[in-house]
Amino acid sequence: LSQPKFVNPLPFPATLTGTYHELTLSQFTQGLGVFDPATLSHSEPTEFEPKVWGYNGSYPGPTIEATTGTQIQVKWVNDLPKGNVLEKHLFRIDPSIHWAGSVNGNSENGNEGHAVKFLSGIPSITHLHGGHSEAASDGHPEAWYTPGLMETGPQFYDNGGLFTYHNDQEAATLWYHDHTLGITRLNVYAGLAGFYILRDSWEENLGLPSGEYEIPLVIQDRRFYENGELYYPYKVEELEDPLEKPLNTDGVTVLPEMFGDFILVNGKAWPFLEVEPRKYRLRLLNGSDSRFYDLFLPGITFYQIGSDGGLLAEPVRRNRLLVGPGERLDVIVDFSDPGLWGQTLILKNNARSPFPFGTTPTPQTSGQIMAFKVVLPMEEGSVDESVIPHNLRPAAFEVEEAVSKRKLVLFEGTDEYGRLKPMLGTAEEGRLPFTAEVTEKPELNTVEEWEIYNTTADAHPIHLHLVHFQVINTQKFNTKKFVEGDPDSIKLLGQPNPPSAGNAGRKDTFIVYPGEVARVRALFDKEGLYVWHCHILSHEDYDMMRPFEVIKKTE
Ligand code: C2O
Ligand code: CU
Repeated sequence: LSQPKFVNPLPFPATLTGTYHELTLSQFTQGLGVFDPATLSHSEPTEFEPKVWGYNGSYPGPTIEATTGTQIQVKWVNDLPKGNVLEKHLFRIDPSIHWAGSVNGNSENGNEGHAVKFLSGIPSITHLHGGHSEAASDGHPEAWYTPGLMETGPQFYDNGGLFTYHNDQEAATLWYHDHTLGITRLNVYAGLAGFYILRDSWEENLGLPSGEYEIPLVIQDRRFYENGELYYPYKVEELEDPLEKPLNTDGVTVLPEMFGDFILVNGKAWPFLEVEPRKYRLRLLNGSDSRFYDLFLPGITFYQIGSDGGLLAEPVRRNRLLVGPGERLDVIVDFSDPGLWGQTLILKNNARSPFPFGTTPTPQTSGQIMAFKVVLPMEEGSVDESVIPHNLRPAAFEVEEAVSKRKLVLFEGTDEYGRLKPMLGTAEEGRLPFTAEVTEKPELNTVEEWEIYNTTADAHPIHLHLVHFQVINTQKFNTKKFVEGDPDSIKLLGQPNPPSAGNAGRKDTFIVYPGEVARVRALFDKEGLYVWHCHILSHEDYDMMRPFEVIKKTE
């Protein structure tokens, strides 16, 4: 018997408003809508309650609501399990990669062997993805801290985990998630993620579907053990019974990618939502490790109104919605067509994994996301007054000409264990580990154009902290002629293509296709140390992340 689908109501995380919050990270159990296979023939099958991590006892964490122009503060309190981290983590940490518990920060190739330093509990640091944050509140991967602040990372700002969010940016769908060095994939998989919705008065006055008609949806793929606990695959998964495997602290477990065969939305497997015959606004977030989604609702057209960093200038009609890890899509969908009444519409996925050249999703599992049941009558006498405005913002998002350009490169190689090791680097220096000296040092309040060349065979969703960038164009180049460390070997092919209409707005994460360069432009307007990285979390952890530092010019 396979898992029943569309029987779990879509959960909505609690929302938090106000200007000060304490969010506590902890371990607890929660039903994720996965049923005990042994009970599937019963009239009421048993829902497993696996151990998860979350914020304020919920996965996903509560949705933080904030308003442009009003600063808020959040104290992120780490109350995750204490004790030996390698044993207390829900999943297998790979001590062979550079992570929060590595003994040395700076070996040549970023690997420190397997030496682990003493940590009294699980380290964590929360990053506000898409936030225009000061460096001290950004959630740098080495600003982690353990419960009670017993140990802290080398980039910890002495703020006790109290972060300030200025909200000096447009209304947008942001999200917060763990960002701890080398274990982000595991901490996020355990559940450390939530929405942060920023509103502004311009958007409020547009008449978009709102209130109960505005639905945040975070899509994440997961795997489970037979006993219902969450399973993060690792190399020894071929073992007869992975549960029997003694914890192997020498385990070399980081994988090139992680793909789950259960699709969770807002923390429930294949949920359903009953909707009225009217317009809804969906705030879609791909919170998965490695899986891209190419979403469609057969027979339905979406109106995309926003992307990562806010509203587009005007809505874009789309039949399919491609969303890479870390990206957000803000869309309106209209269920008012009388032909839809009474129907169950299944949101489907057709993206290959790895994207774009891997295998197609399994129709019965990763090919399905959730169901919309058009069965709720409109309230007596009520009409749908929401609109899809012709114009959403007065002008298209445009970043001024860049004062300097950089050529950056995405690489894939192998490490001493023969594992895939994706990396970032520059055209001049070639690939660089996270630990190598900072090479990207934009000057404060200047615009830079970053040309990001993907020499690999996979697409990578590249994310920059601090900024929202404008995608200027993309272009093919000859990867066969490309020589690492030699910028002159870059041979462009064909013409540059402008971004699609849905990618023309404010972006903080952009899919760079194999054999293509993406040119993005951004204003670097806060000082300090940030990171840029691939948002495939398995790549980010090993070792596709680099620092960048915005510096004040000294004259
Ligand atoms: Cu969503 Cu640096 O991350
Ligand atoms: Cu990647």
